[in-house]
Amino acid sequence: MTELRIEPPSQKTLPALLKLELQPGQERFVAPNVESLAEAYVTPTAWPRVILRGDDVIGFVMANFDPENELEPFRCGIWRLSVAAAAQGTGAGRFAVEEVAREALRRGWTRMTVLWEQGDGGPERFYLKCGFEPTGERLFGEVVGARTLTSAGSRR
Ligand SMILES: CC(C)(COP(=O)(O)OP(=O)(O)OC[C@H]1O[C@@H](n2cnc3c(N)ncnc32)[C@H](O)[C@@H]1OP(=O)(O)O)[C@@H](O)C(=O)NCCC(=O)NCCS
Repeated sequence: MTELRIEPPSQKTLPALLKLELQPGQERFVAPNVESLAEAYVTPTAWPRVILRGDDVIGFVMANFDPENELEPFRCGIWRLSVAAAAQGTGAGRFAVEEVAREALRRGWTRMTVLWEQGDGGPERFYLKCGFEPTGERLFGEVVGARTLTSAGSRR
């Protein structure tokens, strides 16, 4: 299968990003990409990346690296992640998590976080598979998950 990669959003990838479709019912678990891109535009600490397989745009991931944030779960972690319905289950989501982990390590972090909403069709089992563990804390009604980072790579 063609190799996965990420790159910053561009004029070239924007149309596909805006059209990216999830599975029915999944929309409630993540903001639309148009909203995330607008947030990225006004948030200097945001790290938005397009997920591609070959030349095909198949997803979007946005991290935030904001050491000064008053909320600890927002200092280093995944802010948004979505994989197109047609590409789900092929490793793109995990790949994006590992790319964020790599960037976090590069910036000197040893732990990263993510918030997820629980519910049918939600991403909880995906994040558990990717090595996140609930911290027991909740923010805005969502579960806070954290994962220790090691340069040895992914934890399963
Ligand atoms: C959650 C999401 C990003 C997962 O992406 P994906 O590309 O389908 O995930 P992957 O193919 O990389 O899966 C990685 C592992 O998680 C598992 N997994 C993925 N989604 C799962 C689910 N809904 N339930 C159980 N396991 C799941 C896969 O089986 C795989 O396990 P394996 O390594 O044992 O084979 C994707 O389903 C999505 O975009 N959902 C809608 C938006 C959303 O909820 N985003 C998160 C907001 S916080």
